[in-house]
Amino acid sequence: MKLAIVAATGGIGRALVEQALGARHEVTAVVRDPSRLPSGVNGARVDLGDADPAALEAALAGSDAVLSGLGPRSRADAGITAPGTRALIAAMRATGVHRIVVVSAAPTSTVAVAGRPNPPRHDPGDGFVMRHVLSPMIRRILRGHYEDLAEMEEALRASGLEWTVVRPPRLNDKPLSGRYRRAYGRNIRGGCSIPRADVAHLMLRVLDEPQSVGQFIGCAT
Ligand SMILES: NC(=O)c1ccc[n+]([C@@H]2O[C@H](COP(=O)([O-])OP(=O)(O)OC[C@H]3O[C@@H](n4cnc5c(N)ncnc54)[C@H](OP(=O)(O)O)[C@@H]3O)[C@@H](O)[C@H]2O)c1
Repeated sequence: MKLAIVAATGGIGRALVEQALGARHEVTAVVRDPSRLPSGVNGARVDLGDADPAALEAALAGSDAVLSGLGPRSRADAGITAPGTRALIAAMRATGVHRIVVVSAAPTSTVAVAGRPNPPRHDPGDGFVMRHVLSPMIRRILRGHYEDLAEMEEALRASGLEWTVVRPPRLNDKPLSGRYRRAYGRNIRGGCSIPRADVAHLMLRVLDEPQSVGQFIGCAT
């Protein structure tokens, strides 16, 4: 397949590039700084905080799918995920690219935003401790970030594109295992973490699974 990998110099993005090239996909890495890509990787320079539509469309045109690991690297990037993904959606519509897989986060399903004013109070996959202790605490600390992710999810839901949202819990840098649990529409009971490499593995895997279109996928080791 011909894949556009957005934020390919990030943690999940780097794993996506490595695994996609290993599977002999053709990759265009859409990044702020192509000089940080491994040699030989085809890069397109786009800052999604201030994207030139023509440059973004040129980067995505002809792709079979867009895979995005976009998220704030630092405080300066806070709130980038929803507007950056809206720019991707616009460029995909303009270029006739239909399929997109993105990274959100496990606590996002219970976050209210415009278009989703009454989310479920608890994620159906969360157990007692996650529901009543960890999730409220994490959401309080990272509220703005989860609202950004929830707005991204709603933009995708309204986009008319063939989208899949992956919602991992805490990420780590352990090596690819290929052994993780996953579920449609809910988090994983007792699943507290997952390697970035396994999230990338799942994002690539769903490209071959038409039933994953329009789905939120919980995942964890
Ligand atoms: N950390 C966790 O435990 C956790 C848990 C669940 C979900 N998540 C979600 O997973 C996402 C991805 O995780 P990660 O570890 O791969 O994050 P990361 O390493 O911080 O990667 C974020 C990527 O987004 C890119 N980016 C940020 N602002 C951009 C802009 N204006 N234009 C273009 N690219 C931009 C960064 O580009 P540069 O490489 O140029 O900086 C970087 O490549 C997180 O952002 C978060 O929403 C995280």
